Amino acid sequence: MTRTAPAAALDQRDGSAPRHRFTFGLWTVGNPGRDPFGGPTREVVDPVDSVHKLAELGAWGVSLHDDDLLPWGIPLAERDRIVKRFKGALDETGLGVGMATTNLFGHAAFKDGAFTSNDRKVRRAAIGKAMNFIDTAAELGAEVYVFWGGREGTEAGVAKDPRDALERYREAIDVLGDYVVDNGYDLKFAIEPKPNEPRGDIFLPTVGHALHFVSTLKRPELVGVNPEVAHETMAGLSFHHAVGQALWADKLFHIDLNAQRIGRYDQDFRFGAEDLKETFLLVRLLERAGYSGPLAFDAHSYRNENADGVWDFVRGCMSTYSALADRAAHFDALPEVQEAMEAASVAELALNTVDGDEAEALKDEAWALDALAERGYFNERLDQLLVDVLLGVR
Ligand code: GCO
Ligand code: MN
Ligand code: MN
Repeated sequence: MTRTAPAAALDQRDGSAPRHRFTFGLWTVGNPGRDPFGGPTREVVDPVDSVHKLAELGAWGVSLHDDDLLPWGIPLAERDRIVKRFKGALDETGLGVGMATTNLFGHAAFKDGAFTSNDRKVRRAAIGKAMNFIDTAAELGAEVYVFWGGREGTEAGVAKDPRDALERYREAIDVLGDYVVDNGYDLKFAIEPKPNEPRGDIFLPTVGHALHFVSTLKRPELVGVNPEVAHETMAGLSFHHAVGQALWADKLFHIDLNAQRIGRYDQDFRFGAEDLKETFLLVRLLERAGYSGPLAFDAHSYRNENADGVWDFVRGCMSTYSALADRAAHFDALPEVQEAMEAASVAELALNTVDGDEAEALKDEAWALDALAERGYFNERLDQLLVDVLLGVR
């Protein structure tokens, strides 16, 4: 189990407890279809309109970067007016804020990195920008504050000693952790790893790297991870194994859901649009672990869609997750699956291997290997049952 949802999060508009807390980034439904080869294909959406539409479609909440809500450089009075109007929309619809984050990648000054820029003045400004929006995140009642270091990396590896960069990254998160605690904010941090894009190589490229990094921090209890389907998949890794390790470490504070094919550019497709089997394994794992944090869709509609297609995309993300959760429960309840699990000794992996001081017995048992090599593990049968359930033939 990771963190439990605050009681307020269990208030559903119709009074029933929501099964899943689905959120969408303002930048996801507001994505105008710009890519490196062409400009926007859709109008920019007003964040307040996104809140109303998402509420209508049954989402639990939203997530946002500072710059999604507050255009860079606006006067303070304008900032207050925008935040008040946005809060009004949240109050009116009952939507929550799953996470907030700082855009530390868009401004040209972040071209060499933010917390890991070689320029100390840029590093200080980056920490200050994060502090400014942490104040707003607390005001909006955000649960988690995410750090995605898209610009924290290199193309010319010789330009940064990775040990110095990691030390500066650690320093920034520690300073910000102190800031949250000193201000009494009820916010946790989640580090979002990614292997590359936009930098050639990004620091903290995978969930494993990020988990170790958290263990080096001044306040490790405050900081978890925010794994993303696309990011581990870009590196050719199993996403559900990465999430499993985060759960095992009690560090799954948030999750970014989308779809991605190995070896491609960062696709950010609708949840479940690729690799349904891995997606099924992910949803089954989250359900069985009782993960109750936000289920955030960090994806966007295909570029050839107009404004209506964006809402098809939103419906698709949520319905695929819910359907896979049902399929997973159905799979686990099937008697033939239970038999195949038994044959595969799935439950046996949860038993201690050694009870107390058994060195002598273990040394003797080494001689059993030849006999042990005879058995099969019935993985063909078990995996085919999963495929049958996914295909709906069982
Ligand atoms: C990406 C990332 C981002 C982050 C977002 C919030 O690949 O661009 O996934 O979308 O999740 O900036 O931290
Ligand atoms: Mn991403
Ligand atoms: Mn993301």
